Amino acid sequence: MTKTIKNICCIGAGYVGGPTMAVIAQKCPEIKVHVVDINESRVAAWNDPNVEHIPIYEPGLSEIVAETRDRNLFFSTKVDEAIDQADIIFISVNTPTKTYGIGKGMAADLKFIELCARQIARVAKTDKIIVEKSTLPVRTAEALKDILHNTGNGVNFQILSNPEFLAEGTAIDDLLDPDRILIGGDTHTAEGQAAMQTLVDVYAHWVPKAQILTTNVWSSELSKLTANAFLAQRISSINAMSEICEKTGANVDEVARAIGMDSRIGSKFLKSSVGFGGSCFQKDILNLVYISKSLGLQEVADYWEQVIILNDHQKLRFAKNIVKTLYNTVSGKQIAMLGWAFKKDTNDTRESAAIYVSDYLLSEQADVIVYDPKVKTEQIYADLEYLGHHDSETIRQRVKVVKTAKEACQNAHAIAVMTEWDEFKSLDWKSIYDDMYKPAFVFDGRRILDQTSMEALGFNVNIIGN
Ligand code: UDX
Ligand code: UDX
Ligand code: ADP
Repeated sequence: MTKTIKNICCIGAGYVGGPTMAVIAQKCPEIKVHVVDINESRVAAWNDPNVEHIPIYEPGLSEIVAETRDRNLFFSTKVDEAIDQADIIFISVNTPTKTYGIGKGMAADLKFIELCARQIARVAKTDKIIVEKSTLPVRTAEALKDILHNTGNGVNFQILSNPEFLAEGTAIDDLLDPDRILIGGDTHTAEGQAAMQTLVDVYAHWVPKAQILTTNVWSSELSKLTANAFLAQRISSINAMSEICEKTGANVDEVARAIGMDSRIGSKFLKSSVGFGGSCFQKDILNLVYISKSLGLQEVADYWEQVIILNDHQKLRFAKNIVKTLYNTVSGKQIAMLGWAFKKDTNDTRESAAIYVSDYLLSEQADVIVYDPKVKTEQIYADLEYLGHHDSETIRQRVKVVKTAKEACQNAHAIAVMTEWDEFKSLDWKSIYDDMYKPAFVFDGRRILDQTSMEALGFNVNIIGN
């Protein structure tokens, strides 16, 4: 017998939890969805009367929040209360790469997950379905089970893995029209099957049943890591070709188009860039590498680690090329960084290439002027400070954040396009050129500029993969 679901709780009001729950609330008006987080200011922002002030920028999200908030979607810090009332609890807290101890720099840090599990174990008085929504190492469900089953208060927990495949910037479209929904559970028991069916029924409000896959827990957990590893691997593969293209006169977009028409390869996710960023790819691959090593699979670990090595190389060679091209010194020169987010249409900056390139340029004593349409100034300073290579005073002295692209480029020696924001394609490049030091250099890390027309304006043009 599957359960009729009245209450869903989601722990973690971040980039995954927030948009996912907003869409569930919209599509399941009879279910009360309560999103809780320990971060009070984040919760306050989700509740801001002006929906444009919610903490996450995603096209289409504020409209859905406006429609559902305080109808059947609620944000609060009342974690215990939400757990107590819920039939299904999604765990959507952050799982950063460990920065200390065993597995430092590689393994996922599960302390936030464990804290959630202990809190659920303490509070729950009725049976619950617990859903892993964060990306987690394979066998995390097992650890959750251990913690939850030792509570002794007779509550039955079913643990499901339901990885989220949304990409930032297109989160709402991805949620409304997903390629597939994946649900992993205890396929061998009637209780496990019933729990899976309960979650299937939630998604079936708007997703065709044929696109809802059910597997065992471990396949589900591993599929999420595998999907991200394959996607990232495509980018490192095309980026590896971009370097060959630059040295031979081939054009990486022409190569991508030619191979992408082979239906076995496919045309998506072949855009060469200054390197992938985002909270998932690097973290998940490091995690996969760590798991492989833990299983004694050194060759497998080495294979996947190369995807990260190539990505780091791509960021570094882009930064080095700026210095080399500007006559081997950028000391005291002004470099305009167009874009700071890790991709367009998001205000998320985690692992953005712009951070690493700027950090390198600061080491070469450049002045860095940043413009991004959605990222807040303090976030940019925090990202650079987090790397720990330059003190806060130097960063604030050498890095300026401005409100328009034109302002960033005024009196610049060079421009670096770091994020593919649409507005950069239609800038008045002629007047930007006029306001720059000559020769005026532009480095396009996103391949959004047209080499010939930029050269016609007088720019010295460097496009990744040309
Ligand atoms: C990714 C996965 O796509 C998503 O399925 C998963 O749930 C979370 O991780 P996300 O990181 O939000 O999503 O964005 P994505 O579009 O995958 O881009 C990641 C990075 O790769 C960005 O920096 C992007 O600019 C870069 N990228 C992407 C390329 O450089 N070239 C491409 O062809 C595609
Ligand atoms: C390949 C390319 O497919 C083709 O486009 C090119 O012109 C020549 O090289 P071929 O070597 O004839 O063609 O066969 P292919 O079907 O690609 O298989 C190559 C090998 O990969 C085989 O041993 C095959 O068994 C193996 N393979 C293929 C797998 O192990 N798994 C797969 O999913 C596909
Ligand atoms: P993601 O991109 O995976 O959604 P985020 O960092 O954007 O990650 O969001 C995770 C959220 O989870 C943060 O807002 C954080 O405050 C919250 N969080 C972490 N641990 C707990 C916890 N024990 N209880 C409630 N919320 C938590």
